[in-house]
Amino acid sequence: MNTRQLIIDTLCQEGMISGDRLAQKLGLSRSAIWKHMQRLRENGVCIEAVPGRGYRLCEDLLNAGAIQHRLPDSTRIGRTIEVVAEVRSTNSLLLERAETLEDGFVLLADKQTQGRGRLGRQWHSEPGQSLTFSVLLKPDCRPEQAVSLPLVVACSLHRSLAALIPAVRLKWPNDLLVRGAKLAGILMEMRAEPGRIQAIVVGIGMNIRQPKQGWPPDLRQPAVDIESAAGCAVSRNMLAASCLQALDEDYTAWLTQGFAPFRDYWWRFHLGSDRKVRVHDGHGYIEGIARSIDEQGGLVLHTETGIRRILAGDLELLP
Ligand code: BTN
Repeated sequence: MNTRQLIIDTLCQEGMISGDRLAQKLGLSRSAIWKHMQRLRENGVCIEAVPGRGYRLCEDLLNAGAIQHRLPDSTRIGRTIEVVAEVRSTNSLLLERAETLEDGFVLLADKQTQGRGRLGRQWHSEPGQSLTFSVLLKPDCRPEQAVSLPLVVACSLHRSLAALIPAVRLKWPNDLLVRGAKLAGILMEMRAEPGRIQAIVVGIGMNIRQPKQGWPPDLRQPAVDIESAAGCAVSRNMLAASCLQALDEDYTAWLTQGFAPFRDYWWRFHLGSDRKVRVHDGHGYIEGIARSIDEQGGLVLHTETGIRRILAGDLELLP
């Protein structure tokens, strides 16, 4: 790695660092550091010098080292992390490369040109404005057992985000909302043969800050960004690390215990708990009172014609 990349990595990891410490870390003189800083600025990297404190990046650049540095050595998710500037879709790329990549591989992209959402929808992500990443998993289980995994992932994201935004809530099956506006979504895709999962890709998209040109006009529901909801600046690297750590813990629990340990948590933070809802299950609408989440992550609805259990769909809250 060249010196300028090392300086960027160090700034990403440390946040703010004094010129002396940076020089010491990289084995360079203060004046050499100063010259590299000038050159980086000429190349368009925005670096701020704070008098008496040191240097820091003005931009929230994604950086694999800065994320990895915050994960425990024992982690399974994020042992290998790759960051790319632009990709069609992090999910598509991991699905294509699933065979050769290891379990727990994480791919983050600053921009997706063909980002995908649930139910064939589009997912928009602009450079610097969102956190978009996918995780490759290779659990030794049957395809039908994975139905509850996206709900577990929603719990992990909820735990990470609730530290910043206490009002964040879950909406079945795996959306994260604040006061009715969407903050983050999850798209799980799978490659399987009869009776065996070959690979699962869990894709996560989070709105970090509002796009400069405003929210796209074709959104199906209101959107909100994490910085506005939290009322403070957010580091994408720190948030990614916190989500990956929560994911690693929850995925480990799910492998041995399934969805059972997550049911109470889900119900507690679910917007639709004991409320009148309408679910589109791909065929039509089913209306009823949401009564519980079962051990597979299915929604249990009390309808006019009796109890219905729904495994996949789109939920709307009714007045
Ligand atoms: C949804 O709420 O509809 C799910 C959105 C999932 C978007 C993420 S962004 C990273 C990954 N790559 C994709 O193409 N989609 C997922």
